[in-house]
Amino acid sequence: MKLFVDSGSLKDIESLAALGIIDGATTNPSLLAKEQKDPREILKEICRLVQGPVSGEVVATKADDMVREGREIAKIDQHMVVKVPFTRDGVRACRTLASEGIKVNVTLIFSATQALLAAKVGAAYVSPFVGRLDDIATDGMHLIEEIVEIFDNYEFPTQVLVASVRHPIHIVQAARLGADVCTCPPAVLDQCFKHPLTDIGLEKFLKDWEKAQTAKV
Ligand code: G3P
Repeated sequence: MKLFVDSGSLKDIESLAALGIIDGATTNPSLLAKEQKDPREILKEICRLVQGPVSGEVVATKADDMVREGREIAKIDQHMVVKVPFTRDGVRACRTLASEGIKVNVTLIFSATQALLAAKVGAAYVSPFVGRLDDIATDGMHLIEEIVEIFDNYEFPTQVLVASVRHPIHIVQAARLGADVCTCPPAVLDQCFKHPLTDIGLEKFLKDWEKAQTAKV
């Protein structure tokens, strides 16, 4: 399963990319609004750092404007993926952009029918928001299970990109269900490095080694 970082912070993305665990990145207007720099400069820099698919989202709401904006986003870098919201206009824009060879990530997906319609108009990715479903007592991972099953049944090339990830268990569940990508906030990826038994084990190894070296002196 590919791991993307869900962030507009160049500092966070740079440190994670340096570890070699990142295959791409996703952004959204809220994440980019937190940063000071020009959003297009940030997207260009993220492409340089991750050398993989980077999603940049349109803010237009009418299909023709989304298509115009999407073509501009695609020109930022060869790695750019255009993100459009799942609305009627978003579906129309996805169809047009995909027909022009532009990769589209249809976002704000909360049902299997939304994912199916996005796949039918040529979306390269669909982004179901598991955390926001969990927030309203709806099992977000059950949606992933449904979408993976449907896409496998009909061999849709559309990739399932698990979004709105809140904790490492979402990553484990996504991988076990066979999702293609999981996009995670930097804090969740940081959590994946932590395990108390690893810390305790390493400490004992080093202590034993040190003791042995001292005993030899
Ligand atoms: O970028 C899309 C999504 O991952 C944001 O999710 O719920 O953390 O705002 P959330």
